Parts: sequence; C-alpha cells; structure tokens
Amino acid sequence: MNLYSIILAAGEGKRMKSNIAKPLQQAAGKALVEWVVDTAEEAGSDENIVVIGHKAEDMKAYLGGRVKYALQREQLGTGHAVMQGIELLKNIEGTVMVLYGDAPLIQADTLKRVREDHIKKKRAATVITAYIDDPYGYGRIVREQGEIVKIVEQKDADEDEQEIKEINSGMYFFDIQKLRAALKRITNKNAQGEYYITDVIEIMLGDGDKVGAYVTELEQILGVNDKLQLAQVGKILNRRKAVELMLGGVTIIDPDKVQITANVKVGRDTILYPGTVLEGNTVIGENCVIGSDTSLKNCVVGDNTTVLKSVGIDSTIGSETNVGPFAYLRPGTKIGSDVKIGDFVEVKNSTIDDGTKVAHLTYIGDADVGKRVNFGCGTVVVNYDGENKHRTIIEDDCFIGCNTNLVSPVTVRHGAYTAAGSTITDEVPPESLAIARSKQVVKEQWTVNRKKEKKSKKSKKQDK
Ligand code: UD1
Ligand code: CA
Repeated sequence: MNLYSIILAAGEGKRMKSNIAKPLQQAAGKALVEWVVDTAEEAGSDENIVVIGHKAEDMKAYLGGRVKYALQREQLGTGHAVMQGIELLKNIEGTVMVLYGDAPLIQADTLKRVREDHIKKKRAATVITAYIDDPYGYGRIVREQGEIVKIVEQKDADEDEQEIKEINSGMYFFDIQKLRAALKRITNKNAQGEYYITDVIEIMLGDGDKVGAYVTELEQILGVNDKLQLAQVGKILNRRKAVELMLGGVTIIDPDKVQITANVKVGRDTILYPGTVLEGNTVIGENCVIGSDTSLKNCVVGDNTTVLKSVGIDSTIGSETNVGPFAYLRPGTKIGSDVKIGDFVEVKNSTIDDGTKVAHLTYIGDADVGKRVNFGCGTVVVNYDGENKHRTIIEDDCFIGCNTNLVSPVTVRHGAYTAAGSTITDEVPPESLAIARSKQVVKEQWTVNRKKEKKSKKSKKQDK
C-alpha cells in the first residue's frame, strides 16, 4: 500500500518575529520542516508534498527537488491547505499522512505504529492525539462511549468541550479517496471563517466510515510558534541525539550541556565533556576525549585523540593526537596521528603529518608539513604577501627554531634546522642549519660606562 505525506507549511508564523520562514528555522542542526520530511521518509513515505505559501521561494530553495510543492496562495485554513496538497495525488490510491512543517518532534516509529493501526482497522481516518493539562488553543477530541465523534476547535467549543484534555495534534492518517471526497464537503462556516481539516472527521463518521484516534506523548506533537518554543523543541531534539549516542556507548558527562546535531557520529567510550558542540558531518572515533568547551563542525577525528577547549572547522585529525587547549583548526586542515597541536596554535589549509609537534603560539597557513617535525614556540608561516597566498613545504624530521618566520613560498628540506629567530626566505637544503638573523654583538662593561657618563653630565650641570 502506498504512503504519501502532505506537510502543511504555508502559514506566516508572525510570532517568530523573524525574517526567516518559520518552517526553515533551525533546531538541532536541521530546519523544522526538514525534520518532518526526514521523519516522513523514515516512516516509509514514497512521496512528500509540502504546502507552501508564505516565503514560498525560500522554501523551494531550501528543500529543492526532494519534495513536491503545492502552492496555497491564500491561507484559508488547514482544510484548504490539504485540498491544495491532494491535488497532486490525483488518481492515486493509498494512505496519506498530514503533518506540520512546524512540528518536528513526531518520530518515525510512532508514525509506523499509527499506520499499522490505521490499516489493520481499515479506517478512513486516524487522528494522532495527546493529553495536555492546559488545552487552550488546541482542537478538542470529543468522544462518546470512548469513540471519537468529532474534533472541535477552541473558538467553536462549548463550556463542556473546553474542559476536554485530549487534544488534536493536527496530524492524521487518511485513506486518500475518502479524504478527497470529504474535503469537497467542508465549509468555512465556523468561528474563524476557515476551512478546517478537522471537519472531515464528522463527515466521514456521517458516511459510516471508521475513524479512530491514536494517543501519543505530548512531547511528540509540540509545535513551534515563537523563538521560545523553538528553543524548547531544539532542546528535546538535542536530548534525543545525546540519548542515542549514550545508548551507543558514548560517555556524556552532562547531556544537557552538549549540543550535537543530527548527522554527527561518535565512537564508543569517547568522553564528551560539558561545552562540547559537534555539528554538520562530524565523525569522532573511539576512546577520544572531546571538551570541555570544544566546537567541531564537519570534522573527522580518529581514535584515542584529545581535543580540549578548541575549535575545528572542515578539518581532519588523526589518532593518538592531542589538540589544545585553545587551538583553532580552520578549513582544509589535515592533522595526522601522534601529533601535538598545543595552546594558541592556528592551522589553516595545511597538512601536518604523523609525529609532528606544534607545541605553542604558532600560525601554520597553506603549508605541507612532514613527519616528526618539531616547531619551536612562536613560529609564523608568512603565507600572505598582501596580494597572494603562497605554500610552504617543510619535509620530514625538520626542527623549526623558536620564533622562526617562514616567508612563503619556501621549502625546508628533510632533516634541516632553522635557528631561533630566523626569517627564512630561501630554500633550506637537507640536513643543514639555516641562520637568518643578525649576529649577536656584545659591548662589555656597557651599563657601568653608561652610569659613569650620566654622573659626569649631572655634576657639570650643577657647576653652572
Ligand atoms: C490546528 C487544528 C487543531 C489542532 C492544532 C494543533 C484545524 C482547524 N485545527 O489548529 O485542531 O489542535 O492545529 O496544533 O486544523 N496552515 C497552512 N495553511 C493554512 C492554515 C494553516 O499551511 O491555510 C499551516 C500553518 O502554517 C501551521 C499549521 O498549518 O503550520 C497549523 O495551522 P494553524 O492555523 O496554526 O492551526 P491551529 O489553530 O493551530
Ligand atoms: Ca497553531
């Protein structure tokens, strides 16, 4: 049996007070609507139709070709929105889920169970519901002898109905043909003057079709209307990711103090300390120690590596390597295994091969550094001449003295040394020592002589 989804995302979302369309607001590394599309796919949906209206072009640019779009020019209600979506399912039989582009917490497992229930009981509609202490603003599920008889909106509810604590999530499974038929008969004669999708429930029951409700946890149906709810939903999504990682063998010291987006992978027995932010396609191996206070975006890290109080973007780090505290790995950095990148070291668009030590206060940009190289404190790769960037090559087993400037393009051949304080502008041949600084001059007894001079000047003044 085919499964489709219609995802409502045409509304304006005024309460966000944002220039970004509400379904495109980011929570835990994905746009709200992206969470919903991913979940629909995971639940087995063959095709997803997103109903767009407000900021339609932004929505299309973001989601691209992975979904179909139904344009709802005027937002005349949820029923009207579904009508636009179902236009794209002409001559199609099967089941359609109605989901919301601003309700990203619904889980694929839940949708799979609702679908099973819906099919097994041969229903025309299955409504996903939840219980809430304060049902204000939600449609109420009205039951008689336990069976659902209708959904009534807050603004249309009488006093008794307002007391009902079982609410409509707004998410449903429908038989496509039954839904199409029922939608033709809904009107906008209600308190809000809108076409309500909820009215199809009563219509179906009137036709003698089976309708049921599937009760789920409140947490799965929460929607986002403002930035406060965006944070609440983001926190729940983040907590789910931390739980997934912990159940996969990752040690997280305080799951409320890490932020890990959806696609991140972490190996077993790696420890994540508080203040760790892992984003994008970051992959961390086993037995690593990440944090405290470390942000890695699109980084790949090997096994047994430590990254302490550091930032990495679009970089790779090998195994048994130590990074930080206070290192900054900028895009294009490739660090090997058994490497040390110490405090206040910045690396950009460079390769640093196995066994190399860059202990402190160093900038390495646009360089290819070999194996077992030792950098003294305060080395600078002078990669930029004000107009162009140039590359520096440092071959295996070199020793770069403290406070060396390597003026690019320049090559230091294998096994060579540079003397501390050198400004290297020419190739350093293999196994040699380059000294590029002025020779030390010593003036003996200089301070004693200076004091004597001062004294004699003073006595001359007094004599006058
Ligand atoms: C709707 C339900 C209510 C349910 C609640 C759950 C109806 C009539 N009511 O009420 O029973 O408890 O959701 O949150 O269905 N949208 C469009 N086009 C439209 C109207 C809405 O795309 O013309 C989208 C909005 O962008 C929004 C969603 O549908 O994401 C919900 O619309 P909204 O008008 O907020 O419905 P509620 O009043 O919350
Ligand atoms: Ca709403």
